[in-house]
Amino acid sequence: MGENFNSMYRTNTCGELRIADVGKKVTLCGWVQKSRDLGGMTFIDLRDRFGLTQLAFNMETHAAVCEQARKMGREFVLQAIGLVKERENKNANIPTGDIEIIVTDLVVLNEAKTPPFTIEDNTDGGDDLRMKYRYLDLRRAPVRNNMLLRHKMAQQTRLFLDSQDFTEVETPVLIKSTPEGARDFVVPSRMNPGQFYALPQSPQTFKQLLMVAGLDRYYQIVKCFRDEDLRADRQPEFTQIDCEMSFVEQEDVLAMFEGLVKHLFHSVKGISIPEVPRMTYADAMKFYGSDKPDTRFDMRFVALNNAENNVVGGKNFKVFDEAELVVAICAKGAANYTRKQLDELTDFVKKPQIGASGLVYARVNEDGTIKSSVDKFYDEPALQNWAKACSAEPNDLILILAGSDQKTRKAMNELRLEMGTRLGLRNKDSYACLWVLDFPLLEFSEEDNRYFAMHHPFTAPKPEDVALLSAGKLGSVRANAYDLVINGVEVGGGSVRIFNKDLQAQMFEVLGFTKEEAQNQFGFLMNAFEFGAPPHAGIAFGFDRLCSLFGGAESIRDFIAFPKNNSGRDVMIDGPSALDEKQLNELHIALKK
Ligand code: AMO
Repeated sequence: MGENFNSMYRTNTCGELRIADVGKKVTLCGWVQKSRDLGGMTFIDLRDRFGLTQLAFNMETHAAVCEQARKMGREFVLQAIGLVKERENKNANIPTGDIEIIVTDLVVLNEAKTPPFTIEDNTDGGDDLRMKYRYLDLRRAPVRNNMLLRHKMAQQTRLFLDSQDFTEVETPVLIKSTPEGARDFVVPSRMNPGQFYALPQSPQTFKQLLMVAGLDRYYQIVKCFRDEDLRADRQPEFTQIDCEMSFVEQEDVLAMFEGLVKHLFHSVKGISIPEVPRMTYADAMKFYGSDKPDTRFDMRFVALNNAENNVVGGKNFKVFDEAELVVAICAKGAANYTRKQLDELTDFVKKPQIGASGLVYARVNEDGTIKSSVDKFYDEPALQNWAKACSAEPNDLILILAGSDQKTRKAMNELRLEMGTRLGLRNKDSYACLWVLDFPLLEFSEEDNRYFAMHHPFTAPKPEDVALLSAGKLGSVRANAYDLVINGVEVGGGSVRIFNKDLQAQMFEVLGFTKEEAQNQFGFLMNAFEFGAPPHAGIAFGFDRLCSLFGGAESIRDFIAFPKNNSGRDVMIDGPSALDEKQLNELHIALKK
């Protein structure tokens, strides 16, 4: 920094000058953060990307320029020329706080309307307003810093992958709609009446074709588009670090991308992370009820009505006797939870999104005795068996849900996360990475009454499970598919690919495609596989998610320069918008009246 920014407009930035610069004549440019008129003196805090510098205007020595300064409104764009002077009242909170500029000349480069919200770290602007004036929101240091973090992450990603001989290749954005996965965004083709391009949900097939083409190691930091319901960690257009490698097995991919993640943590955050632990999908579901467990804290599920160890059955408590699953977590040190707090938890699990019918709890007292919400059915020795099963100690709180297996696991996952938050176990500055392995290849959809590919249709079954596929035991086939989870967020996912034409055809058949449909949709890939496809595998990281994790924020929106709101709208440009008649006609689109 520094001389780089010396231009026809300025000699220095607003974040640069220090005590050593006292006496220098400088020219600064920037926006008015705030001004104070103290009669004899007027002060303006001038802001640019690099910081704030105090401009001082002296009525006695420079009356005209001081008069001029008094008229400057917030966000005016100024050029100020003056001398660097040591401040009388130093400000230890900012790097330039030891100095100020005694301004001799002031040029208004542009006036500004009063902004609709304050351009401060803690602004008074609500979400909607800030989105509408995103360019003003981006002037605020926290949002700007998010952009700088994102830039750094992208740079370091490129640096690492380049050092590993990956080649960045751009793949097309106007492609063809495919029925698997999320909904496509589509673009009408003017030159091909009645036909539509689709925007890529990911460059999946193209990167595989690049492997057939012999590129060996490909990556791309690439926009992807998915027309799905939005959440804090989902945007309709988002960015992936998309990667593919040839002549590799799962272990090679895990090692390479564990390397990338370690490099990013180290170079961007100065953190050395240990070897990333691994867990099978089956264990993740069993112990956490989620394929993306937050492993910053333990609090594993304990089934209380196991076939081999049923510690709840036979006591005439119908809710437990009739449940497919009775599952507990042990919240360490939470036995002092008040009635009110327990009621809150009960309300929490009963919310429709969570869907449990109720919550049973048992407190382990200081003296080791236990008090539960179902004492009517369970005596002290029975409750001690619960405590033993849960490895609960004095002062611990056991929380129990019961019901159908899947639904109860899902609800318990939410309760576990809620307890983790309440007990302060989810510190955003600590990071727990995890590989989740051995995902099922296929997932049954009750709604469509058929199997879907859990990852995507190009994912290879585990070689030892191919026989199950042929035998029609579709739900039991595991895939060579893996996810990287950090702090309970699915940051990346990938798989070893099918590179054999016949296996790929079998996969499409299992997914309910006729031969013609498969040929129509994916003929280009299957044909390519006839020309010498190498074994290959890959992964894609959600770049926005990775940035938001590194930046310690929940929402990926804060790390996207111009994001969409929850209805998929860009409220700044007011898109999407209607087309006029002429455009519609050209596109051969007739709207329903
Ligand atoms: P997948 O669909 O798992 O895999 O996507 C990879 C990663 O992209 C991120 N992600 C999203 N981020 C923000 N908004 C969204 N709407 C969104 N959807 C997904 C997630 C996810 O882990 N082609 C395969 C990868 C491969 O097999 O190589 C794919 O796209 O962090």
